[in-house]
Amino acid sequence: MKFFVDTGDIEEIKSLAATGMVDGVTTNPSLIAKSGRDFLELIKEICEIVDGPVSAEVAATDYETMRKEAEVLRKIADHVAVKVPLTEDGLRVCKELSDDGTMVNVTLCFSPAQAILAAKAGASFVSPFVGRLDDISQDGLQLISDIVRIYDNYPNFDTEVLVASIRNPLHIVDSAKMGAHVMTSPPSVIRQLYKHPLTESGLAAFVKDWKKTGQSIL
Ligand code: G3P
Repeated sequence: MKFFVDTGDIEEIKSLAATGMVDGVTTNPSLIAKSGRDFLELIKEICEIVDGPVSAEVAATDYETMRKEAEVLRKIADHVAVKVPLTEDGLRVCKELSDDGTMVNVTLCFSPAQAILAAKAGASFVSPFVGRLDDISQDGLQLISDIVRIYDNYPNFDTEVLVASIRNPLHIVDSAKMGAHVMTSPPSVIRQLYKHPLTESGLAAFVKDWKKTGQSIL
């Protein structure tokens, strides 16, 4: 499973990349607003740090403006994945960019039917939002299971399932069990994955016993 980090925080990206946890980065207008940074400068800086796909989202919702914005975004670097909403206009932009060799991440996917459309439009990634479905008492992980199953039926679908809107470690582990290709998570949830109480207590015991030996490796 590829790990993308869902953030506009450069320090978090650098820190997680140091342990091999960053195969790519996703951003959205809300994360850009939170960062307080200039959007285009920030995406350029992230692209200099991360080799994998860096998702940069269009701000407009109409075809003409999205298409123009996409031109600006894709010129930043070859590994920018232009992020478009799952609307008819968004998928029109997706089809054109994909046909032209640019990665596209189709976002705001909330149904298997929408995921089929994204694949047919040639998206590199489709982003189903697990947490936001859970928030309205629908089963977000069931959506991942459905999309993975549908895509598996059609080998000509090249679109990768990018699990988004992750709220907790189980969203990641269960999506991995289902065979989702990629997940994008806030840094805080990735950091939760490192932790286990038995790791902490086991390490404390080893440190204590090592002291008893009076030895030093260095
Ligand atoms: O970037 C898309 C998605 O991951 C947003 O998550 O937490 O705002 O629902 P969230």
